[in-house]
Amino acid sequence: MQTIAVEPPKPGVRLVEMPEPTPGPKEFLLKTLEVGIDGTDLEISRGEYGTPPSGEKYLTLGHEAVALVLEAPSRGNFEPGDLVNPTVRRGCGICMPCKTGQSDFCFTGLFKERGIKGLHGFLSPVFVETGEYLVRVPPDLAEVAVLTEPMSVAVKAVHQVLKIQERMPWREETELEEKSALVAGSGSLGLLATFLLRYLGAQVITMDRSPDDTMRADVIRRIGAHHLNSREVDPLVLAKDFDGFDIILEATGSPHVPFRLASALATNGIMVLLGVPGKAVSVEVDATGIMKDMVLENQVIFGCVNSNADHFREAHGCLRGFLDRYPEEFSAVISHRHPWEEYELAFREDGRDVIKHSLLWEER
Ligand code: BGC
Ligand code: ZN
Repeated sequence: MQTIAVEPPKPGVRLVEMPEPTPGPKEFLLKTLEVGIDGTDLEISRGEYGTPPSGEKYLTLGHEAVALVLEAPSRGNFEPGDLVNPTVRRGCGICMPCKTGQSDFCFTGLFKERGIKGLHGFLSPVFVETGEYLVRVPPDLAEVAVLTEPMSVAVKAVHQVLKIQERMPWREETELEEKSALVAGSGSLGLLATFLLRYLGAQVITMDRSPDDTMRADVIRRIGAHHLNSREVDPLVLAKDFDGFDIILEATGSPHVPFRLASALATNGIMVLLGVPGKAVSVEVDATGIMKDMVLENQVIFGCVNSNADHFREAHGCLRGFLDRYPEEFSAVISHRHPWEEYELAFREDGRDVIKHSLLWEER
């Protein structure tokens, strides 16, 4: 079969011939239907991240998939014809989180990630997987189910923010009403986080480095968030109008962003770092200012990665909620669906009308 792969650390994506997998006794055979492409895929395609399976030269990309069960083991929890989302991380098998389905908190670092670290991804016509790493997709979500994985990462992040903020007296208020949030980055993660934070009632400013007339900016505004072009407006100046932001969600992956934004945090504020930096760059930071604010204003800055099957199930609830409340805007998020043979189109740099690309193995 032909898969869409990279040869780390060489830049570039290409078709590679690989043997078709045969399911083991506990494995399902799955037909890929649709796979989303995100910033991590682009980073890997530039040779800045990603590791092939041990002893192999190529890594099949793709970690945001929706698939159809073709063959099921005799005692499986899914049947042929079921729609599923595979999760990304495969636990180390050693630590407690990995043994209890929470490999997103793996202690040993010996985990693998499909399409990213040590395991092939889903940009192939079929793949195999065991049931514990598959989450059933409710049929009414089929159209948008390719967004489950990035949504699950946003869900975990917001979850962690709320959990940590249980330290605060304001936790007694309902959800996030009256709270201000700055989302840095409008890629898949930033945009889905914008939907979620708006859905929960926060006042949201989503910043990127693009003008106000892109499709993304349009969607951001239409769901009641503000779009900020950081090339034109300094977020630190805007932060003053808000008395700082209660929540900052960093989803650019640029090390220049978070430590500068630290001074835009409100008293008692919290910043979550989600973007994975690529090439090493050194950045000057105001360590004294950051340290002083963090101590004197009870601030938290923390990192958050990946998601587990529970977050995938919660993500399904979000997708349904967004379809319900923002039907047109949410349906616009996958702006470009290409047949898989045209994979190169999904890896080009963004245009003004691009929100997110996906690749299809079946005509729609
Ligand atoms: C994926 C996560 C993964 C992370 C780091 C992200 O793009 O969505 O599942 O853990 O990259 O590799
Ligand atoms: Zn582990």
